[in-house]
Amino acid sequence: MTKARLFSGMQPSADSLQIGNYIGALMQWRTMQDTYDAFFTVVDLHAITVPQDPKELREKTRRTAAQYIAAGIEPAKSTLYVQSQVPAHAELAWILSTVTGFGEASRMTQFKDKSQRYGADKASVALFTYPVLMAADILLYQAKVVPVGDDQKQHVELTRNLAERFNARFGQTFTIPDPVIQKDTARIYDLQEPTSKMSKSAESQAGVLYLLDDINVTAKKIMRAVTDSDGIVRYDRENKPGVSNLLTIYAALTGRQIGAIEDEYAGRGYGDFKKGLRDVIVAEFEPVRARALELLEDPAELDRLLGANAARASEVAEKTLAQVYERVGL
Ligand code: ADP
Ligand code: NA
Repeated sequence: MTKARLFSGMQPSADSLQIGNYIGALMQWRTMQDTYDAFFTVVDLHAITVPQDPKELREKTRRTAAQYIAAGIEPAKSTLYVQSQVPAHAELAWILSTVTGFGEASRMTQFKDKSQRYGADKASVALFTYPVLMAADILLYQAKVVPVGDDQKQHVELTRNLAERFNARFGQTFTIPDPVIQKDTARIYDLQEPTSKMSKSAESQAGVLYLLDDINVTAKKIMRAVTDSDGIVRYDRENKPGVSNLLTIYAALTGRQIGAIEDEYAGRGYGDFKKGLRDVIVAEFEPVRARALELLEDPAELDRLLGANAARASEVAEKTLAQVYERVGL
């Protein structure tokens, strides 16, 4: 039996990924790569939809790819490549933009949020059409399964609509993808502001646990994490967001139930709990960080690997694109 296709990706928007990317995406990708024919992409074309520095972008792209591999995505098993190395992404995005309604695109809430942040004049047309490029990413590979965070759910819905519309208008061409939305329990919050989602592109790094941070920096950030004054290790998202967030991380990395962790730390203070969590995180991150840095020491070899994977991706993508051109009359 052939395996169903899976597509997912992350933007190279920082030097290092953060623990939310690890728990919310990489850990799941690592498991899913055995079940699916998986394509994992560093979506650098998406990253240029906001102001960026070319030299930094190339480096961040390599670093992101190295962290995928270090976290356990195996390039021999999955297709792990850089989006811009497969030109079909941009080509299909153009075609799909011709079947996208302006009103439909205008309803994407992420653009509304982001354009507000950048201001109307700085927000690019590419930021507006970002979801169409994302649809192209997914549809090029005939992906059935698309693991995404809940903030991307609307974009996968758009992808489904575009695929159905294209199929209806031009003949059966695209597989209709299903989003696999992360469970809410997999959402990690900022350690200093435990009601905001942790993000690798956050303005302040104090509450962000980066995969590539020095282990001592990671340990300090955990010990300084915001908690509360009642001193009880108990999960209560509403009233104890800081402690709840730390419990979520603890449970996700150890595979233990939150209740069992609460029991273990019953009657002990936050200091003990944080030390326990620090040990768990350090043990998890140390080999990942070491492997990523090792890969980054030989950029030529990393580039060769990514190039070979991009060639594999291109073979699949070009097949879809050729069909699309044919159907459209190009
Ligand atoms: P970031 O906000 O760090 O830039 P992205 O938006 O690029 O992250 O998301 C990359 C992947 O990581 C997505 O699958 C997303 O759902 C996941 N992810 C990002 N931040 C978190 C978080 N704080 N908790 C859980 N998953 C997250
Ligand atoms: Na981001």
